[in-house]
Amino acid sequence: MKKEKYSFEFDRFENKNELEAEQKKVVDQALEISHQAYAPYSNFKVGAAVQLENGEIFSSSNQENASYPVGACAERGLLAYVNANFPNIKIEKLAVSTPNVNYPLPPCGMCRQYILEIEKKQAQPIELILSGNEGEVLVVNSAKDLLPLHFTDEFLG
Ligand code: THU
Repeated sequence: MKKEKYSFEFDRFENKNELEAEQKKVVDQALEISHQAYAPYSNFKVGAAVQLENGEIFSSSNQENASYPVGACAERGLLAYVNANFPNIKIEKLAVSTPNVNYPLPPCGMCRQYILEIEKKQAQPIELILSGNEGEVLVVNSAKDLLPLHFTDEFLG
C-alpha cells in the first residue's frame, strides 16, 4: 500500500479589484445577475457568467422549484444554454458569485462534473473565478482540480 496526497495550486486575491480587467468583468456580471435569481426556497442567490473565446459574455442564475430537486444551479443552466447555442466556441472563463456571503462560492459537486464535461469536449480547461458579494476571490485553473480522481467518458470504454 502507498499513501498518496492530492494538492493543487490556485490563486487567492484579497478582493476583485486585484483581478485582471477581463476577469473582473465576468465576476461583475455573475454578481449582477445573481440578484435576479429565482431562489424563493433557499433564498440563496447564485449568479454565473462565462466569457467565450470570442470575448462574448453570457450569464444566468439559479432557478429553483417547489419540487426541490428539480431546481437547477446557475452554472449548469448557463453552461447548457451556451453549449447548446455555441457548441463550437470555447469557454475560457466561468465566474460564480453570490450576494449572500462575503467569501468565495465554490461550485457544487454536480456542477464540477458538468464543467469537467465541457472542458473535456472543448479540449481546454475553463478558468473558474469564485467570489462572494465582497472579499476574497479564488481563481482555479480547471474543474479537474476540484475533482480528484474524476470520472470521464474514458471509463465508458
Ligand atoms: N447553487 C448554485 O446555483 N450553484 C452552486 O454551485 C451551489 C448551489 C444554488 C442551488 C440552490 O438553488 C441554492 O444555490 C442553494 O443550494
